[in-house]
Amino acid sequence: MEKGARLYEGKAKILYATNDPDLVIQYFKDDATAFNAAKKGTVQEKGIMNNKISSKIFQFLEGHGIATHFVKMLSDREMLVRKVAIVPLEVIVRNKAAGSLCRNYGLQEGTVLAHPVMEFSYKCDALNDPLINDYHVLALSLATQEEIDTIKKYTFQINEIMKQFFKNLNLELIDFKLEFGRYKGKIILADEISPDTCRLWEIGTGKKMDKDRFRHDLGNIEEAYQEVLKRVTK
Ligand code: TMP
Ligand code: ASP
Repeated sequence: MEKGARLYEGKAKILYATNDPDLVIQYFKDDATAFNAAKKGTVQEKGIMNNKISSKIFQFLEGHGIATHFVKMLSDREMLVRKVAIVPLEVIVRNKAAGSLCRNYGLQEGTVLAHPVMEFSYKCDALNDPLINDYHVLALSLATQEEIDTIKKYTFQINEIMKQFFKNLNLELIDFKLEFGRYKGKIILADEISPDTCRLWEIGTGKKMDKDRFRHDLGNIEEAYQEVLKRVTK
């Protein structure tokens, strides 16, 4: 697979063209940002760890009937993926209260939610990824009703599959963020699934094994990501 022009650079990844118009290379950087890039840093080998963790999870989801953009891992930092048009939504699921849910609604971290929460944020750095609902999605023509319904259905399925996947690794899936894309007329799962995009707490100890270690300067970030990688690939 030939690596072509750089198509897009985001905060944590770069996309490169290939000689196949349907495929692109997703390159994982070590850069870390939080709070819409107000906080910046690097996490040694994060790109390698997130590429490997994401690859495993995408393969696991594919095995459970979820269509994803994942094709194969090409190298430590590179994943070959289907070229999608990203739906500009961050689709968040929360099983327990943490992060912005606590800030916005006055909940204590770790509160068990009576029902999982699904949220949409409008993927727009200039606006700080504002929280939006289905009506905003339709009003701004970000997705059709049919696409919203498909995204919700897949997202709840993915939550069930991933909760069990991580539970088997002695990790609790507190919340996570997904992105979907359009590919040949269908909605498929895109982007990455990693400790950058999930909150994972070790069962028993409650230890945070995710990007909150970076966001809140908890230390031992690399070690936590390495431990997640070790469990995911064991
Ligand atoms: P939040 O509590 O900060 O809203 O985050 C909810 C989940 O979404 C958490 O697992 C982290 C993830 N997330 C991202 O992947 N990217 C983002 O830009 C944000 C704000 C959160
Ligand atoms: N990824 C987001 C940022 O760059 C926020 C986060 O993950 O907390 O700022």
